[in-house]
Amino acid sequence: MYKIAVIPGDGIGKEVMEAALTVLDALNLDFEYEFGEAGDECKEKNGIPLPQETIDIVKKSDACLFGAAGETAADVIVRLRQEMDLFANLRPVKSYPGSNGLFDDLDFMIVRENTEGMYIGKEEYIKDESGNIIGATAERLITRYASKRICEYAFKYAKDNGRKKVTGVHKANVLKKTDGLFKEVFYEIAKKYENEKIEAEDFYVDATAMYLLTRPQSFEVIVTTNLFGDILSDEGAGLVGGLGLIPSANIGEKSALFEPVHGSAPDIAGKGLANPTAMILSAIMMLEYLGEKEMAIKLDKAILKVLSDGETVTADLGGNATTTEMAEAIKNEIS
Ligand code: NAI
Ligand code: MG
Repeated sequence: MYKIAVIPGDGIGKEVMEAALTVLDALNLDFEYEFGEAGDECKEKNGIPLPQETIDIVKKSDACLFGAAGETAADVIVRLRQEMDLFANLRPVKSYPGSNGLFDDLDFMIVRENTEGMYIGKEEYIKDESGNIIGATAERLITRYASKRICEYAFKYAKDNGRKKVTGVHKANVLKKTDGLFKEVFYEIAKKYENEKIEAEDFYVDATAMYLLTRPQSFEVIVTTNLFGDILSDEGAGLVGGLGLIPSANIGEKSALFEPVHGSAPDIAGKGLANPTAMILSAIMMLEYLGEKEMAIKLDKAILKVLSDGETVTADLGGNATTTEMAEAIKNEIS
């Protein structure tokens, strides 16, 4: 039995979550769901966007499914990542049929360090003698500990998922100390995986941004620091299609949270227009994390079928099915 924390959140978060749970039902897994409140509506009701009760539900769970929050998203999701020490952010770049992405033959994973780098929130103003702000600085933290942990994760992921190469991405020619350290640690870990026949290569982040466009098929697993990972993973999303199709995972040592990349989409909320695919693909990532590989494959096949038929898909994919109808179609493919 798995304890699954479920946080639907705001707007289409609630709609795509309902769709995902409908589809998961068809797999007959031994799941016990516990629902938690978070987001804008929760703040209106309780005065805070992320109650301790919700944090506790997530902490007690084996894994968490998160829909989307609205304006309070940063307070909710960033806080949860910190509370749970969700150090690895996983963003698959995988082509699905019927998307309007640039490529239809991609399948690789971006592993982003999620706890340090440029996003530690240490910024300072530089003031002149009269106190006018004349500039600002930002501190960038790279530790051996976090670099090791994320590189280990990436190589282990490669090994567990039959990938043959890991690409380390940095800017060590300019950021000699911070990214110099990251690169050094990357190759230390790579050495341990030589016997597993997993190849290691490294590129500068600017070159990688170009290679993602010119030869994205050459990547299998990319591992990089926080800011670079944030940017490259959005570039990756652009390679394979719209927001309605892009899932993500936040992985920690004891728990993990799975969420679509999109937000609460107030422009389409409540109209049944939301594409449930990103949320369902996030649920597939959760199944993989829990070790339910067969179930993950089964569900992936069902989604592939519905997407390639193109008959029961939502408006963003050129169809006229509602969120619920698309979920039902996926469910029918399973059974
Ligand atoms: P958004 O992702 O909510 O929407 C961007 C555009 O994509 C909209 O036109 C929307 O209709 C469309 N879209 C998004 N998901 C879709 C889906 N599943 N199916 C069909 N169309 C979809 O981003 P936006 O508009 O920048 O932000 C809206 C709210 O969401 C804001 O309050 C923001 O703070 C929040 N947000 C929350 C996130 C989270 O909870 N992790 C992430 C991003 C934004
Ligand atoms: Mg981003």
